[in-house]
This record gives sequence, structure tokens and C-alpha cells, in this order.
Amino acid sequence: MRPHVIVNVAMSADGKLSTRDRRQVKISGAEDFARVDHLKSRCDAVMVGIGTVLADDPSLTIKSEDLKRERRVQGMDEHPIRVVVDSTARISPTASVLTRGQGKRVIAVSRRADPVTVAGLEKMATVIVTGEQEVDLAALLDRLGAMGVRQLMVEGGGTLIASLFTAGLIDELYTFVGNIVIGGKDAPTLADGAGFVTESEFGRLALSEAVRIGEGILLHWNVRVRS
Ligand SMILES: NC(=O)c1ccc[n+]([C@@H]2O[C@H](COP(=O)([O-])OP(=O)(O)OC[C@H]3O[C@@H](n4cnc5c(N)ncnc54)[C@H](OP(=O)(O)O)[C@@H]3O)[C@@H](O)[C@H]2O)c1
Repeated sequence: MRPHVIVNVAMSADGKLSTRDRRQVKISGAEDFARVDHLKSRCDAVMVGIGTVLADDPSLTIKSEDLKRERRVQGMDEHPIRVVVDSTARISPTASVLTRGQGKRVIAVSRRADPVTVAGLEKMATVIVTGEQEVDLAALLDRLGAMGVRQLMVEGGGTLIASLFTAGLIDELYTFVGNIVIGGKDAPTLADGAGFVTESEFGRLALSEAVRIGEGILLHWNVRVRS
């Protein structure tokens, strides 16, 4: 069974996820960080694209000691399975996602990945090979489902999220909109990639909730299934 997919991002008031040189920016505050940590702790796996790993070097770990303890009490690993979508296995063996915190890792590569590099990664992570050029995201989700992943959180970036939208694989979307303007036509946004051309291709959302958090607003959307 395919996991339920929840995308969470923070964006500036002008819809940017980071600067035009892909430098990570603090968009939200402590209250929203705590919400994201809580959401992550309820998920079986958390996924990012290799662009995000190379730009931000995130560990994707849960930060709150209470939430880590709750997971341990429930017999789970402290951290959800950390998944990186990385066609050609560009991830460094020293990346924080591979080295920080206990728990399982999955690196999803395509058939373009060098078998020697893949063999090296297999010492640190489960490597899933799917897709010819890019990672086949639907097949990857099926494989994660077979591993017992029911809830999958996606933390970006815009290229990966665009592909997930195109493939109709997103169920829920949280966008925290913060009180800064980053600007720049080349700065990453929620759904980059090639972009949708016709209205029938657009992602359609139903607003579930809008909550003020500090000086920003959290929007919770359900993604409508295309008819
Ligand atoms: N504000 C936020 O909440 C937030 C969250 C996350 C990231 N960010 C920002 O977003 C930026 C990174 O985003 P990004 O768009 O450059 O990279 P990304 O979405 O993290 O990763 C995209 C890469 O994943 C690989 N990939 C493999 N199969 C794919 C598929 N089927 N579909 C899409 N991608 C696939 C591709 O590289 P290969 O072909 O080499 O595999 C692709 O270039 C950074 O600046 C980061 O700071 C912000």
C-alpha cells in the first residue's frame, strides 16, 4: 500500500523557499519548528531531494527529547526513516542525514547510478533502485509502503515536490508563509520543475485550515484527486 504523503514547507511572503543562490533562510520561528517536529514524529519516514541535501545538509532528525522518548516508548526508532531521492547517488557519505542520529536510511537512485558508488552507500543505507533517468517516485512509494511506511512527510525541495504533484502522489500540504520577502525569479518555490501549462494539469487544493503562528500564517491544504 502506498503511504499517505504530507508535504511541509516554509515559504516567504513572496513564495520563495530559499534565496536565488539556494541559501537556506530562517522563515519561521520556534513555534512553527515545534509543529514541524511534532508532525515529523508522527510519520514513519521523511523524504527530501538531493538538491536539499546538497544545499542545506539537513539531518532530518527529531529535535525534541520528549518526542524522541514517546517514539521509543511506542517501540519505534527515535527518528523516522530518512529517505533521499538521488538519481545518480551524489550524496556524500559524510552528509548529516547519513551520519547524525540513529535509525534507518533509504537512498533512492535510478539505473543511472554508478554500481560501485551504490555498493558503498549500501553500507550506510538501504538503496532502492528504480527508474531509468530519474527516480520513479510512484514505484519508490510502493517500495516504502512495503517496508511498512504508512505516513510519509516530504520536506522539499521544489523540484521533488513538483514531480510528486505531477504524479498525483501528494495527499496533504502544509505551507507556512513567513513575514519576509526573498525575491528573485530564480529562487526556489514550492513546485519548480517544468511547470504546468494547462489548467487541467494544475494541482488543485482544498483549504482545510489557516492558523496565525507568530508573524506568519500556516495554511493546511488537502490535495484534490484529479478527475
Ligand atoms: N523552505 C523550505 O521549507 C525548504 C525545504 C526544503 C528545501 N528548501 C530549499 O530548496 C532548495 C533545494 O531544492 P531543489 O529543487 O534544488 O532540490 P530538491 O527538490 O531537494 O531535489 C531535486 C533533485 O532530486 C533528484 N531527483 C531524482 N529523481 C527525481 C524525480 N523523480 N523528481 C524530482 N527530482 C528528482 C534530482 O537530482 P538528480 O537527478 O541528481 O538525482 C533533482 O534535481 C534549497 O535551496 C533548499 O534550501 C527549502
